[in-house]
Amino acid sequence: MKKTYIIANWKMQLGVEKSVELFSQIVSNFPEKNKTEVVVCPAYTSLQKVNELNKDKIVKLGAQDVFWEESGAYTGEISCEMLKEIGCEYVIIGHSDRRKYFKEDDEIIHHKAKTALKCSLVPIVCVGETFQERQEGRKDYAIISQVTKALSGIKPVGNNKIIIAYEPVWVIGSGQAINAEEAEHMHQVIRQTIVDLFGVSIMEKNFKIIYGGSISKKIVKTFLIQPNIDGVLVGGASLKPQEFLGIIEEAISIK
Ligand code: PGA
Repeated sequence: MKKTYIIANWKMQLGVEKSVELFSQIVSNFPEKNKTEVVVCPAYTSLQKVNELNKDKIVKLGAQDVFWEESGAYTGEISCEMLKEIGCEYVIIGHSDRRKYFKEDDEIIHHKAKTALKCSLVPIVCVGETFQERQEGRKDYAIISQVTKALSGIKPVGNNKIIIAYEPVWVIGSGQAINAEEAEHMHQVIRQTIVDLFGVSIMEKNFKIIYGGSISKKIVKTFLIQPNIDGVLVGGASLKPQEFLGIIEEAISIK
């Protein structure tokens, strides 16, 4: 069985108390011995408390965003080192919420991914087409362009990992995922783009490609059995402990 990545994005949904409660429910019911890598991304304010609970590190911790400079007079921003200090190993970069509400463009996302990699955080770089791009037949082009602009000039070295999360923007939070075969096609497109940039051995060794957008316990397996889908980024369903644990169980049940 390949190693499957299951990443929870709690967005701005939970304060400290609720985050601690949800995290406790996940770790206390966490299935023993499995080959999944489960990452939870709470809001900044909850990271420290959640990290304190995460003694055995059976679940990994991630942040939902980071700034691209390492330190300095950047009021309101958080650096990679600050995230590492409180136990983060992963960071989501360029989520469609950030692209939409904070006007983050491919250049900003590129800088953030580069900085994260430099300080040994695993960047989870989100890409996805809008509904309009899809309607106009520009879906593959949009994804190739986002992946290329995010990654050009960022060559992973050693065992550095980069995760690309393919999330069709119009599907996020809709309750209606695309079908798994279509997602598999997009993962092949992303895989080819990375092979074109860095070659096949770096693609195999340093990259993972995961799907996000209305994933639930009911459908997750249809995605994870696809040869090019290495995991899932889960929003709404990650806020319900039974549903999220169910997603992990489904992943484990794949031989
Ligand atoms: P969703 O969110 O699972 O609620 O669609 C996914 C995401 O925003 O990463």
